[in-house]
Amino acid sequence: MTTPLPIIIDTDPGQDDAVAILLALASPEFEVLGITAVAGNVPLARTEVNARKICELAGRPDIKVFSGAIRPMVRTLVTAEHVHGKTGLDGPVLPDPKMPLQSQYAVDFIVETLMSRPAGTVTLCTLGPLTNIGLALVREPRIASRVKQIVAMGGGYFEQGNVTPSAEFNIYVDPQAARLVFDSGIPITLIPLDCTHQALTTAKRVEAFRKMPNNSGPAIAALLDFFERFDENKYGTDGGPLHDPCVIAWLLKPELFKGRLVNVAIECESELTMGSTVVDWWHVTKRPPNATVIRSVDADGFFALLTERIAKLA
Ligand code: RIB
Ligand code: CA
Repeated sequence: MTTPLPIIIDTDPGQDDAVAILLALASPEFEVLGITAVAGNVPLARTEVNARKICELAGRPDIKVFSGAIRPMVRTLVTAEHVHGKTGLDGPVLPDPKMPLQSQYAVDFIVETLMSRPAGTVTLCTLGPLTNIGLALVREPRIASRVKQIVAMGGGYFEQGNVTPSAEFNIYVDPQAARLVFDSGIPITLIPLDCTHQALTTAKRVEAFRKMPNNSGPAIAALLDFFERFDENKYGTDGGPLHDPCVIAWLLKPELFKGRLVNVAIECESELTMGSTVVDWWHVTKRPPNATVIRSVDADGFFALLTERIAKLA
């Protein structure tokens, strides 16, 4: 077996974040160096607790969980309780965590890890607003040349937006942080709505989790029962998009995904289009390519990978 890939998961759990974290913890290909919570779907006080609840659900109280930014870098925080519920993990009843929250500030953990580990070895998997990463870049600009890659769920181009007509939630919440990240020169793979809207939690796929003989499977089914209702009503589909696990699945099986190296620019001025990801898909500008934007996923292959791995959890 090759050496596990060291990753930091930056997240705002969130039911789909929870499934992504469980997939990562079920996959020996990764060494999860830490999980850094950020304000997003729900306030930070809940996302950091949720991250620890998920680690304990996976039987991994050893994972280091850090608390990060309580609000975006410039804008005021916008949350999404209408999608994720008041707790952010509505659906199953998950016990309050017993594992400790790390005392170190998440941004300092990100900087310290990147500055102490060999350059080009640590991957950042971002599942929420990019505030922690933006703050880390300001705190220590030298990390930009030391990050192996960022794999980020966020943005939308052909699918446009989900929180406004033109902006996806993660980018919309903190567009200034996103601009810092996309201007940083760090290799980025962006997994936007164009891809995640193809990964629908159909009834058949959710049943596969519900009947698993472990704790995580049925808990995921309960999380998805709650999470999907908003998007099912909005899009009239069987199931809702399962956004964040696509980040982890891309690292595990990139062949399931297709994309293109292009320039991505972030709107930070217009209130009308604030947070939109302007993707130069047809190379009509001279803006240099700065991200591989994923436009499609083999949804059956994605769910086969997801169920195969989750079934291995305690
Ligand atoms: O727009 C989808 C993204 O916003 C996902 O990461 C979801 O968890 C929310 O954070
Ligand atoms: Ca998220």
